[in-house]
Amino acid sequence: MNHSHTADPAFWRAGAISATAVMLVILGFLTVNSLSDITAGGSHVPAYTVINHRISYQYDPARDHDMPVIGGQQLLFGKHYDAEQARALIARGKLVIQTRACIDCHTFLGNGAYFAPDLTKSWLDPAWRLQWMPMTGAKTREDAMVEFLMHPDRYPTWSREMPDLHISRDSAEAVVAYLKWMSAINTNGFPANFGHASQP
Ligand code: HEC
Repeated sequence: MNHSHTADPAFWRAGAISATAVMLVILGFLTVNSLSDITAGGSHVPAYTVINHRISYQYDPARDHDMPVIGGQQLLFGKHYDAEQARALIARGKLVIQTRACIDCHTFLGNGAYFAPDLTKSWLDPAWRLQWMPMTGAKTREDAMVEFLMHPDRYPTWSREMPDLHISRDSAEAVVAYLKWMSAINTNGFPANFGHASQP
């Protein structure tokens, strides 16, 4: 009998094990390599205290897409959040978004659905100033957002209406902080069709 080595299961096992090992090393390298980009306070993701600042969205000709621009102080709910307070508030906002399954209808950073508007840059949406502030009578964008989140069925602007999810004021404020922080993330122009928001 003349068995070639390719008939030996040990040959295939060794191949599978070494290929897996090489891929693990590459995956490990890529993970460590991108951590500095995706961590809050890194090159693409601002520190949580960015919620104390004015955020705008401006066209960058070199990149050929809009980039978040972090400006001077612009307090959220009239408060200044230190690093720990900002982290805790945004963590709570994320928890609200996860537990209430907002991604069943909305998209965040590429995850979710397109039944309802993409929320990645929602903080920068001119509609807060042009539509929801007049409709709710709120004096600031964040107050209009809280009022909308607590009673979305009262302030419809779109062809589809958001149902009242019975979100408490504290939860709504945390969601707004999360959305403000998220809007300052450099998403390489995603979502591409987001309007050129001008700041009030
Ligand atoms: C059943 C689907 C559905 C779910 C679930 C849902 N929404 Fe909405 N949401 C909508 C629709 C539809 C609109 C558009 C409403 C309008 O403009 O009148 C909307 C609008 C919004 C807006 C305004 C977006 C903009 O910039 O125009 C925000 C912010 C928002 N939703 C946040 C949330 C959050 C946070 C959650 C989870 C707690 C959530 N939504 C869950 C359907 C949904």
